[in-house]
Amino acid sequence: MKGTQSNDQSMHSLMRVVITVVVIVLISIGGIACVLMLGPNKFLSLAKQDKRVVKDELWKAPDIRTIPNTEEGELIKYGKDLISFTSKYLGPKGIVMSLSNGMNCQNCHLDAGTKPFGNNYSAVASTYPLFRARSGTLETIEKRVNDCFERSLNGKALAHDSHEMKAMVAYIQWVGKDVPKGELPKGAGLVLLPFLNRPANPDNGKLVYDKTCTVCHGKNGEGMALTDSTGWLNPPLWGPNSYNSGAGLFRLSRFAGYVKANMPFGATYDAPQLTDEQAWDVAAYVNSLPRPSKDLTADWPDISKKPIDHPFGPYADEFSEQQHKFGPFKPIEEKKKLTSPK
Ligand code: HEC
Ligand code: HEC
Repeated sequence: MKGTQSNDQSMHSLMRVVITVVVIVLISIGGIACVLMLGPNKFLSLAKQDKRVVKDELWKAPDIRTIPNTEEGELIKYGKDLISFTSKYLGPKGIVMSLSNGMNCQNCHLDAGTKPFGNNYSAVASTYPLFRARSGTLETIEKRVNDCFERSLNGKALAHDSHEMKAMVAYIQWVGKDVPKGELPKGAGLVLLPFLNRPANPDNGKLVYDKTCTVCHGKNGEGMALTDSTGWLNPPLWGPNSYNSGAGLFRLSRFAGYVKANMPFGATYDAPQLTDEQAWDVAAYVNSLPRPSKDLTADWPDISKKPIDHPFGPYADEFSEQQHKFGPFKPIEEKKKLTSPK
């Protein structure tokens, strides 16, 4: 009896081992089959997506009515006002001081930096301080704001410890407060248009401009001033009162992306009014005309980091300034992929 019992016991534990092994093998086969069926990349990206569902939704700015009625809330509201009506406070006839060209931040950062693909501030709080190759330094939000003052508003920098700078930074941080650190939500910044297979064409662009843009921005890109001349009803696109040659919009990809999703005024990323070709060509036209220039000698200390469409040499490749300005950009991109270290 004793013998049979211990035989039974060892049979049992053997069975258990066999079943466990079979189960493990089946699970493994199932896992491998899944990976094979979906492809290893798909499998990885499915795993990633699970954790970042929110990121696939279009970003929405926090509700302005939720700004608290506290001292901090007042600072945020003042910051929003400065972004929307920059010229009133800081333009040529500014009531605080005069350091910018009469444009408003909002002219380019639409709806005070809250419009999806309208050059919004959704990803500023989540990604700054940020290393930027243009300066070769780690940039704070204050530094980035001053880049726009000195280039997009063709003006002077604002002191980092001024009440106005603190207010603008507080507002920008509030706009992006719900975006997790390090993340870029869908709808951040600008749309990136695919490159054309040809250079962007200023002559075609003039046709687009005369037909679609003059009604608001004027025949000579001069814009339309407010009657009290404190700013612009429709901002200028070139000439002495426009952004300078160091501004982001002076790069064709930025201008084309901005215009595609936002102009003529009222267009949105999901209801654009221009084709990609029209957007690239009108960018080429507007950025061929005279505007204030900026000394850019300190920019891009590492020239190999210059964006493909940065229109000023020297470059780390052999393509001309002409091609870096108007394209075709694909050959430059291909070359860059081949030569840049992984
Ligand atoms: C003439 C257009 C224009 C004006 C006016 C302008 N900006 Fe900008 N700004 C840009 C462009 C273009 C970019 C870069 C977008 C890109 O590269 O994706 C930018 C980028 C920024 C960024 C960084 C955004 C990011 O996600 O990294 C901040 C912050 C900013 N601007 C603040 C301001 C403030 C504050 C003002 C007003 C004082 C201002 N800008 C006025 C065009 C403008
Ligand atoms: C119905 C009037 C209207 C039309 C048409 C229009 N815009 Fe605008 N545009 C505006 C207004 C208004 C702003 C400023 C938005 C704000 O402050 O909220 C603006 C801003 C801009 C800006 C950024 C600010 C600047 O001055 O640099 C660019 C670039 C621009 N428009 C390009 C174009 C182009 C190119 C076209 C034609 C394809 C066009 N717009 C058609 C009204 C218009």
